[in-house]
Amino acid sequence: MIYARIAGTGSYLPGDPVTNDDLVARGIDTSNDWIVSRSGIHSRHLAAADVGASDLAKLAAERALDAAGCEADDIDLIIVATSTPDFIFPSTAALVQSKLGIRNGGAAFDVQAVCSGFVYALSVAEKFIRSGSHTRALVIGAEVFSRILDWSDRSTCVLFGDGAGAVVLEASTSPGIRMSALHADGSHHPILCVPGGVASGQVIGDPFLRMDGQAVFKFAVKVLGDVAHEVLERAGESAQSVDWLIPHQANIRIIQATAKRLGLPMDKVVTTLDHHGNTSAASIPLALDEAVRSGQIRPGHRLILEGVGGGFTWGAALVDF
Ligand code: UT7
Repeated sequence: MIYARIAGTGSYLPGDPVTNDDLVARGIDTSNDWIVSRSGIHSRHLAAADVGASDLAKLAAERALDAAGCEADDIDLIIVATSTPDFIFPSTAALVQSKLGIRNGGAAFDVQAVCSGFVYALSVAEKFIRSGSHTRALVIGAEVFSRILDWSDRSTCVLFGDGAGAVVLEASTSPGIRMSALHADGSHHPILCVPGGVASGQVIGDPFLRMDGQAVFKFAVKVLGDVAHEVLERAGESAQSVDWLIPHQANIRIIQATAKRLGLPMDKVVTTLDHHGNTSAASIPLALDEAVRSGQIRPGHRLILEGVGGGFTWGAALVDF
């Protein structure tokens, strides 16, 4: 039986932290108190104008390759989860392959599932590996959400940040990714979207992120609890067997409510939201890598990774690290 295991993690955050007070100093009509009390965010990182998602992804990938002890050319599959690609095409994954100097003809493509993107990408990569078609994948979440923020909309612009996280996922004789579940309900697309596109050399529609925060909040709390229970039940495991919950980092109150529904104390929950903000598809692998490097997550630990985002999409993975 072939399984897929995480062999190494890496991440990258651009520039210095930008605090809530820095945003106020830049003229945004907000306050540190409001942002902290409503979301739990204290600071985020914002990429320079000439830095794209593929640049962040490449740097995170190099760190994951180092941690896994393998060479770029050992990778035969690259999946990048992103909603802020460098270009309409080629895919960010193809650009990352080129930037890493990989010339082995392996597969490379992007997954677009917004904040659930990393869980989607991990689940897809796992299926490629378990099928035997590929042996070692780079699964990356990379975002420059600052590019799609309307900086005059204080209800959204203070919540997001830029960054990238990556894992090397490889074939193994022992599991790894124990179970995953992916869901979508496109009927909810208006509550979180960037309702614009490009045609005839022009932006058609609205190129900025629009969110009904309260509707998203309620939806997120419900589906994150449900999908975590679903992967545990389908794997025949209980929440008590979980060492770490690594949820999408959007709002500390959503994270606390999800942990409560699972019966997990907050000291079993990885939270990086306070200093990363919401980095969409990058948030889960960024949190994973930080917790691995700090020694919180150790080999043998059981993890639940779970995300929810625009679409609406949501999903979870039960992982033995
Ligand atoms: O990754 C995708 C998933 N996204 C999420 O999970 C986000 C989910 N939603 C949330 O996290 C929360 O709904 C928010 C943090 C977005 C908002 O928190 P809230 O408690 O739902 O606040 P609200 O939208 O009800 O806004 C309350 C007040 C309003 O003022 P009035 O009308 O009550 O006077 C807003 O105008 O807060 C005001 N407000 C702000 N004030 C200062 C909105 N944004 C700001 C701001 N600074 N940045």
